[in-house]
Amino acid sequence: MATTQTTKIRSYPAPAKLATVTDLTQAEAQAVTTAVNPLIADAFSLYVKTKNFHWHLFGAHFRDLHLLFDEHADAILASTDILAERVRRVGGTTIRSIGHISELQTIEDDNNEAVPPMEMVRRLMEDNAQIAKSVRNAISVCDKNRDLATSNLLQEILDQTERRKWFLFEILQRD
Ligand SMILES: [Fe+2]
Repeated sequence: MATTQTTKIRSYPAPAKLATVTDLTQAEAQAVTTAVNPLIADAFSLYVKTKNFHWHLFGAHFRDLHLLFDEHADAILASTDILAERVRRVGGTTIRSIGHISELQTIEDDNNEAVPPMEMVRRLMEDNAQIAKSVRNAISVCDKNRDLATSNLLQEILDQTERRKWFLFEILQRD
């Protein structure tokens, strides 16, 4: 995604005062940091989009979808802290700002004024599917770089992401 900033924010290695102890090599820790930070940016971005649809929903399925989007948003937001603290534990730095999120995010923002409810569901399903793919790739990076703890957390997040995708997909089948 294009950035308005002129300099990229460095994520690894952390400056001396933020250094942490790990038995991973520098290359391994850097690979994990580089794989995980975009997932956090995507999670923040999907959180805002899911809340946007929670707030701007209308129509016959209002109650069901309003509650479902809120449930999804809560889980997505919770994943950001889990992953960001993992990056810090391996000696990287993580998300610092909205600008940093837009530098790293891969899913598109949504600024449309009135999105039809089933189109909201379709867009969220596609974003969750894209994120599931990215998480799966990051798991393989963590496995290759001996970071099984991050890999385990990502497996849980992958399962939650696929659960959201499943619900959204099934809702689309009723129309
Ligand atoms: Fe709400």
